[in-house]
Amino acid sequence: MRGRFITFEGGEGAGKSTQISFLAAALERLGISVVQTREPGGSPGAEEVRALLVKGEAGRWDGISETLLLFAARRNHLQTVIRPALERGAWVLCDRFNDSTLAYQGYGRGLDPDWLAGLYQAVSEGLEPDLTLYLDVPVEVGLARAGRRGDDENRFEGLADAFHLKIRSGFQAIVRANPQRCATIDGMGSVDEIRRVILETVTSRLMGPGR
Ligand code: TMP
Repeated sequence: MRGRFITFEGGEGAGKSTQISFLAAALERLGISVVQTREPGGSPGAEEVRALLVKGEAGRWDGISETLLLFAARRNHLQTVIRPALERGAWVLCDRFNDSTLAYQGYGRGLDPDWLAGLYQAVSEGLEPDLTLYLDVPVEVGLARAGRRGDDENRFEGLADAFHLKIRSGFQAIVRANPQRCATIDGMGSVDEIRRVILETVTSRLMGPGR
């Protein structure tokens, strides 16, 4: 049986990576084979593209170039990691996916959502996540957390607060438009509380009777 494809989405510092690791461990305890991955990146080729995207000056790419790099990386990731894993029955947990492109490049940078949707269709050949968990935190909280990480992957964090506000309302709009696929998780709870809510959501949406 084909595995399940779960994506985690959110702004900067939403706490996605901690929660992905918790969910991966919980699923593995149930005997499910799990592949934990991320975008941009997740495959050797896409990780090389990631370095171009997340490091350096904010202005080094305009929105269109940035988007084409993201989709080149996404196609390689889908072909070499995500699809093969799903086909062998593993569950794929991906830190960011196409909703990040709609939120950052669409709502944030103002690129045409229909152009983005067309690119996604071409690159993905129609594969959609089974479930998207959107971790919602206020912009100022997320940016403060992301700033404390202190890595050099800060090209997007350096953008103005107004950009991050657009991204948050963009994610909220995406969830409203796709209620079957997406669930909002309040990212302000304790780490344990969020872990519990995520597990409940995955269980009820993907493991209920008849699934
Ligand atoms: P990360 O902080 O989750 O590692 O993601 C790296 C950055 O890439 C983050 O600032 C969001 C940005 N990004 C986009 O702008 N568009 C996309 O499609 C993806 C996947 C990430």
